Amino acid sequence: MKLFQAIIITGAFALSANVAVAGDADAGKSTFATKGCAGCHGASGAAPTAGTPMLAGKDAATIKQALSDFKSGSRSSPIMNGMAGLLSEAEIDNIAAYIGG
Ligand code: HEC
Repeated sequence: MKLFQAIIITGAFALSANVAVAGDADAGKSTFATKGCAGCHGASGAAPTAGTPMLAGKDAATIKQALSDFKSGSRSSPIMNGMAGLLSEAEIDNIAAYIGG
């Protein structure tokens, strides 16, 4: 019975992790390149130009929150409000999975 409970609990954690990072990392990688993100943040978000924050090492939830806030305008950045405005919700999930996955 204990083992059975452990399996259920482990399964629930695996499911919730999937919900947190629902995106497709491969699709996120290509969006990151085609939308010009890498031009400032560097390949994989790991080599930013001066004045641009490092994305590599941040978790998926943080990346998703930042992009959602830039898109909605609740976080203000002349550059990123425009860039995030180009992304669909699915593309935001994919990029979050790619950077933070
Ligand atoms: C022209 C340069 C430029 C481009 C292109 C660009 N960014 Fe940014 N990005 C910035 C700057 C500058 C900031 C910091 C904004 C601030 O906090 O005021 C930033 C912030 C961010 C943040 C928040 C990081 C943090 O530490 O809070 C994320 C996530 C992000 N960008 C993702 C992207 C994605 C995804 C794309 C492509 C759709 C993109 N950026 C395109 C310059 C750029």
